Amino acid sequence: MAKAKTQYVCRECGKRSPKWLGRCPQCQSWDSLEEEAVQSAAPAGGGAPYMAPTPLSLAKAAETDRLSTGLAELDRVLGGGLAPGAVTLLSGEPGVGKSTLMLQAAAGLARKGRRLLYVTGEESAAQVRLRAERLGLDLSTLWVMAETRVEAISQALAAEDWDVAAVDSIQTLTIAEASGAAGSPAQVRESAARLSALAKSRQVPLWLIGHITKEGSIAGPKLLEHLVDTVLYFEGDRERALRLLRAFKNRFGPVGEVGVFEMTGLGLGEVANPSALFLAERPERASGSVVAPIMEGQRPLLMEIQALVSASPLPVPRRQALGVDSARVGLLAAVLEKKVKLKLFDRDIFVNVVGGAKISEPAADLAIVAAMAGSWVDRPAPDATVFIGEVGLAGEVRSVAHLEARLREAARLGFTQAVVPPGAIKKPPLALLPVKSVYQLLIEHLGFKK
Ligand code: TYD
Ligand code: MG
Repeated sequence: MAKAKTQYVCRECGKRSPKWLGRCPQCQSWDSLEEEAVQSAAPAGGGAPYMAPTPLSLAKAAETDRLSTGLAELDRVLGGGLAPGAVTLLSGEPGVGKSTLMLQAAAGLARKGRRLLYVTGEESAAQVRLRAERLGLDLSTLWVMAETRVEAISQALAAEDWDVAAVDSIQTLTIAEASGAAGSPAQVRESAARLSALAKSRQVPLWLIGHITKEGSIAGPKLLEHLVDTVLYFEGDRERALRLLRAFKNRFGPVGEVGVFEMTGLGLGEVANPSALFLAERPERASGSVVAPIMEGQRPLLMEIQALVSASPLPVPRRQALGVDSARVGLLAAVLEKKVKLKLFDRDIFVNVVGGAKISEPAADLAIVAAMAGSWVDRPAPDATVFIGEVGLAGEVRSVAHLEARLREAARLGFTQAVVPPGAIKKPPLALLPVKSVYQLLIEHLGFKK
């Protein structure tokens, strides 16, 4: 019989090495590697400590291993739930609702018999309890640990079979090996690296919660992006209830995916029909208000775009935009001015995306143009109509990606016609009104005279 093979495993972080090393290359601990036998992948009944090489054709994604958080919007953004050992960074501005989301996910997991260890470094266990009570969660199924020392957290994680772990927040942790105060780059990096290694070796999904500030970031999220598997950003502002959860990086699912939530008195509610939410208070037959289906990741959302064009008292009229790029609005105003001779040079122009949403795709151009022109003539856009298309500098209307998905979403929400770029599409779900140019848009659909 062949001699049993051995390998060396770091007792601190679980890093494996084929040969002995004085210092662990992963967690930098000195003299921490211990020899242990490599168990063969033979069906001896014992678990294999490593994955035997397989032909790629046989390597299948074990979708069944995904853990559902009980929040469908969150699961979708993750790419179908939590993957084993996946390290996910959840970041966002203070107060956006990260802790609330995590606690609700813990409760969702608990309902499926899974235990999440919620490590709180920001709040006391009693404060977490108060929040859980406010959210109406079953306290007996939630586990909390108020701790900031990484060594202690590692011990707690290794001591029991947790299904998931969450650390709130990574900026509060300290680790003996690193210098600096909690929140300093070295502390954040080392703490995250140590906990990630442990999560990987135990195949326990780990959440790291991190704050960012409006100005960008203090030590934290940016520093960790390369270290983790998935980066989620939670966005929204304090005045408004709407919250968007975006996957910015995802080794286990699509990026650009968005989950939509609403902050209520009872925590975060999932918004199954975000388009309806965006359009909820849309004024009937108001000039300057139009609807455009905008892609958020793979998903179209209907958004209301408003424009107000009014005579300016100023020598240099204002061009202000909220939720869309001001430069884009200026460019589209110039196209209207030059190509259809719409007098705008002495008008203030305000453009706003309702609900605090942000639009960064040119597919909204046609809607912005329609809103500005509509406000200029003070005439409402046709009923139940959406506008889709990019506008070029020559005033031409250009095609956009995902046209069918956008049309389906519009039809689903009760819109009956869509002004679109030229080009055939099979079996459209609503009436199409193709336009080649901004001129054609104004003449045929906004009531301008030739
Ligand atoms: P929190 O989860 O503490 O934010 P973060 O961890 O990102 O800093 O939530 C902060 C805000 O959410 C807080 O201002 C209060 C509000 N909130 C509600 O409106 N409803 C609720 O049920 C809860 C728990 C919080
Ligand atoms: Mg918090």
